[in-house]
Amino acid sequence: MNSTNTALNNTLVITIDGPTASGKGTITRLIAQRLGWHILDSGALYRLVALAAQKHQIALDDIASLQPLAAHLDVEFVAAEGAEEMVVLLEGEDVTLELRKETTGNGASKVAALPVVRGALLERQRAFAQSPGLVADGRDMGTVVFPSAVIKIFLTASAEERARRRYNQLKDKGLGVTMRGLLEEIAERDERDMNRSASPLVPAEDAVELDTSALSIEQVVDHLWQLCQVRLN
Ligand code: CDP
Repeated sequence: MNSTNTALNNTLVITIDGPTASGKGTITRLIAQRLGWHILDSGALYRLVALAAQKHQIALDDIASLQPLAAHLDVEFVAAEGAEEMVVLLEGEDVTLELRKETTGNGASKVAALPVVRGALLERQRAFAQSPGLVADGRDMGTVVFPSAVIKIFLTASAEERARRRYNQLKDKGLGVTMRGLLEEIAERDERDMNRSASPLVPAEDAVELDTSALSIEQVVDHLWQLCQVRLN
């Protein structure tokens, strides 16, 4: 048995990868709810490394300090009653709102380009694969972290549509953003995520690609649900 299989403990995994604001988080949550499975929001881990670095005044290219920081990240995800999202505690401090800011996402995409940070988070991510199953959301879930996943989805959408979705999402949280600023940040993040040498954002060879630009959330969930009926039975 190779290390990947051992780490997965033979738990069923669905991976949902794609660029920023392509709807991965929402779809992951809805599918996991329907299946009664666990969720891995891998982007949150990279965001937490960026926040921890900020907190400890570590530069986002300081490899020697970022590696142990990522390896020993003191984080807790707490389910809050009635809330859609988990409360996230970093070193005991509630960083739930801070975590979703675009500046944090941008910092995440910088530390995520560093192989030492990716390596330090690998086993922590695999440990989320627990019975009865896991829906994992990220950039390299299907290519690197869970290569033997039973279903791999790669969600895309046009940059304009993604900016519009992110704008509404952040506005709902009371975080101020402009469409123009978002479009620029999305372009910058796409560029960095797709062109880095460590685990770049690419669909796994066996991934089902879905352009969601003109699809509603319900349509995407229906599509994925049909796939679950075929592959999980
Ligand atoms: O929600 P959004 O797609 O904007 O971001 P996220 O999924 O929270 O991820 C934040 C950043 O972390 C991304 O821009 C990626 O650079 C990085 N990331 C990664 O490299 N690998 C993952 N599996 C997940 C996120």
